[in-house]
Amino acid sequence: MTFLEEIARRRTFGIISHPDAGKTTLTEKLLLFGGAIQEAGAVKNNKIKKGATSDFMEIERQRGISVATSVLAFIYQDKKINILDTPGHKDFAEDTFRTLTAVDSVIVVIDVAKGVEPQTEKLVEVCRMRSIPMLVFINKLDREGKDAFDLLDEVEQKLGLRVTPMSFPIGMGYDFKGIYNIWEKKLNLFSGDNKTTISDGVQFDDLSNPELDTIVGETAAETLREEIELIDEVYPEFNRDEYLSGSLQPVFFGSALNNFGVKELLDAFIEIAPSPQPKKAEERLVDSKEEKLTGFVFKIHANMDPKHRDRLAFIKIVSGTFKRNAPYLHVRNGKKVKFSSPNAFFAEKKEIVDESFPGDIVGIHDTGNFKIGDTLTQGEQLNFKGIPSFSPEHFRYVNNADPMKSKQLYKGLDQLMDEGVAQLFTLDMNGRKVIGTVGALQYEVIQYRLEHEYGAKCSYENLSVHKACWVEPEDIKNEEFIEFKRVKQRYLAKDKQGQLVFLADSEFTIQMTQSKYPSVKLHFTSEFKN
Ligand code: G4P
Repeated sequence: MTFLEEIARRRTFGIISHPDAGKTTLTEKLLLFGGAIQEAGAVKNNKIKKGATSDFMEIERQRGISVATSVLAFIYQDKKINILDTPGHKDFAEDTFRTLTAVDSVIVVIDVAKGVEPQTEKLVEVCRMRSIPMLVFINKLDREGKDAFDLLDEVEQKLGLRVTPMSFPIGMGYDFKGIYNIWEKKLNLFSGDNKTTISDGVQFDDLSNPELDTIVGETAAETLREEIELIDEVYPEFNRDEYLSGSLQPVFFGSALNNFGVKELLDAFIEIAPSPQPKKAEERLVDSKEEKLTGFVFKIHANMDPKHRDRLAFIKIVSGTFKRNAPYLHVRNGKKVKFSSPNAFFAEKKEIVDESFPGDIVGIHDTGNFKIGDTLTQGEQLNFKGIPSFSPEHFRYVNNADPMKSKQLYKGLDQLMDEGVAQLFTLDMNGRKVIGTVGALQYEVIQYRLEHEYGAKCSYENLSVHKACWVEPEDIKNEEFIEFKRVKQRYLAKDKQGQLVFLADSEFTIQMTQSKYPSVKLHFTSEFKN
């Protein structure tokens, strides 16, 4: 296969949802269809269980296991599919945001009864900001849920999407009969009472065909005809370019648990979803078809064995062919690096690989040379953009609890932050360190890992911060900026990249600050420079 064919057949995507909407079940069913696993339950076992917040060690253990599910790759109809795992647990939302920088498209799973939930809103917003092509799967149609049109409205309004249904349910819950696949003009019905078997789709180009009444009953047939007519009138027609540019989102209905609608989703997905896309670097746009290798680290996973402080850095290949033992440039530190045992990922295992192509993920064993966002090239000075930090939601001072081990503490903190476990801020005024996290659980994880992996002890102290705002002064000599710095001195800090951050204690403070110092711009993510 040629290099260009290898690129064209790759589909790298992530599935996002609010916990419990059915992401794990859908992932598993996709793997089953792809023949990558033989039985259900294989992925599930690695899932970070809900309600486990009190048991962080269990979560860490599961996170350790989940290296295996970080990338799930399989071949389906000759397409190489890479599913990048996105943790559903809200305390790990940062991991998900970062993973979204490495996908070419996403599937959004929504529970038909619950509709759009908060975690989905946040994640879809990130995808929208980056114009990532999105496909929506409305799940659990075997249960009673919201009316399909109401749900489409909700998706449009709450998620700010422009949708076009590609399939439509016939009944719901107890009355759920099946799905009309608008995309392929096929009728797929449940067969059997237990709703676990599915008939093969029947081609149904013309819904006015009276046979429809015989198959689904007169009432259901009439309703379906009206609904499809309404869809034709109200929703835009599917247009692949609009989908690819992020301005139109196709919607599918189904039930992952019952394998219903999953194959339709997968078949449409491989046809319409994008192959590896060009990616913006600070210097230029890099096309996947370029022959020279480029790639970036989007995730670092600590090995769970504390004796070997060994980590796995996940690199997304953006362009060129990645080759084992070839010399590459680690752009940030200017060093040449070679990898003798890079890993490629398959459904549940990883293997040493000789070559990888754009869209693929390579896992590199690392002892601390990589951090998230690092770029690899064949010599070019290039820095991929797009791994922003969002304001953490929790903030605490971190104190050294064992003065003999301060070196270990700082090294540990440094490496854990490179892994993206949390964000570290250093106060301008006194140099004190503040750790910011998305979930309170992270503090326990950090404390535990500092002790077990670095032999350092820390304690925390509460700090009342509402939000971290990245500060963009219009002009460093600007008097307003100087005044802002003087007045807010106690609340100013630097993030790990040395950017100035204002730790605001309330929404009110943010508003007051903005109106008092209008030329000092406050941003809620670290990525605001073009
Ligand atoms: P998540 O990864 O998004 O958190 O969701 P997950 O797949 O774990 O699904 C959450 C729950 O919803 C699971 O039930 C799962 O079996 C169920 N589920 C997923 N898809 C469907 C569907 O199409 N129909 C119905 N009725 N249920 C569905 P659970 O009781 O939490 O777990 P389990 O005991 O089944 O493992």
